[in-house]
Amino acid sequence: MKLAVIPGDGIGSEVIDSALRVLRRTSRVIDSGISWDVFDWGAERWLTDGVGLPDGAPHLLRANYDAVLLGALGDPRIPDMAHGREILLGLRQGLDLCVNYRPVVLPGGTVHLYRENTQGLYAGVGGAIRRGGIAEVAIDECVYTRETVERFLRYSLSDLQRRGSRRVTLVHKSNAVPNTGSLWQDVFRRELREFPDLAGNEQYVDAFCYHLVRNPTQFDGVVTSNLFGDVVSDIGAALMGGLGLAASASISPDTGFALFEPVHGSAPDIAGLGIANPYAVLMCVVLLLRHCGFDIPADALEQSLSDAVRTEVTTPDLGGIGTTDQFTGEVLRQLDLKLPAIDRDRK
Ligand code: NAD
Ligand code: IPM
Ligand code: MN
Repeated sequence: MKLAVIPGDGIGSEVIDSALRVLRRTSRVIDSGISWDVFDWGAERWLTDGVGLPDGAPHLLRANYDAVLLGALGDPRIPDMAHGREILLGLRQGLDLCVNYRPVVLPGGTVHLYRENTQGLYAGVGGAIRRGGIAEVAIDECVYTRETVERFLRYSLSDLQRRGSRRVTLVHKSNAVPNTGSLWQDVFRRELREFPDLAGNEQYVDAFCYHLVRNPTQFDGVVTSNLFGDVVSDIGAALMGGLGLAASASISPDTGFALFEPVHGSAPDIAGLGIANPYAVLMCVVLLLRHCGFDIPADALEQSLSDAVRTEVTTPDLGGIGTTDQFTGEVLRQLDLKLPAIDRDRK
């Protein structure tokens, strides 16, 4: 298995160091092994030679790698993360990663959140009329095509069915944003007919946020548009115990090609301190291994993470006294207890 690794900025590269240590260990139990190339796309490159996402990057990744692992982007020196938008949104759109799966894992069960990842308010359509002055009008248009909503929902609903989910909620705002809202409702109701085991339900995003905070595990599957999914996934992260825990997988429904990245950003407030929580990126590795069909090491890593998170070497965001390095060491120690039986180096 060959991976493209984009560490990115701030704590992105710190947590990716941790992921690479775990991948190196995991590689020993996979017959073909795991190798990777590291790409320096991020703030430094943007500031030195003005390049964000190099030309042809999506094709390069798709043609040469099985999956992408990304840390995080964002740098206080670059307003509005212009470089990160080019890289992140460029990859999501360029690789057709319209399904973004962001599980909210809670003691009472998992809320399976699926966020559309390429259109909506992130479509990049809009502009300014009469720039500057009191008469300026700024427009970011919310664009959805039936084709993308269909492909997104079909993939998400069949993924939910595969997981044994029984209920799915469409989160929308058709009372205030009726055009895209009713397109989503129409496609949702039509697609649901193909999934008789899934009971459908629809909620306005404001009420949904209220119910999610009050009683999250009443929800099972959740499908929503790009910006709502972005906001809801940070609420989900807070319910789990923090952004340091939330992982995501962005998937192309047509090719199955996928990019894995934590939900969190580059966290400039703690970058360089060595205390970033690598749990989220390591859960991304779990999702990546599972997506590529390596269930045994994926299960071992997931169990190692839940054992390690019960020790005192968790990072400060979880109330622990550990560093990124120490927590990773504990995960590796737990992993060693679980993996030797299937270690090809010891055969
Ligand atoms: P952020 O997610 O970087 O940080 C929010 C808060 O959560 C901070 O207090 C931070 O310290 C904490 N936090 C986040 N991840 C953590 C971890 N792994 N361990 C411990 N604490 C963690 O959000 P922000 O501060 O709004 O954004 C910083 C930059 O990151 C911005 O430039 C933003 O655009 C960018 N961003 C990038 C991505 C991405 O690359 N996918 C996602 C979100 C934000
Ligand atoms: C995320 C991030 C990105 C998004 C930003 C950095 C463009 O917040 O992945 O959740 O809004 O999708
Ligand atoms: Mn976000």
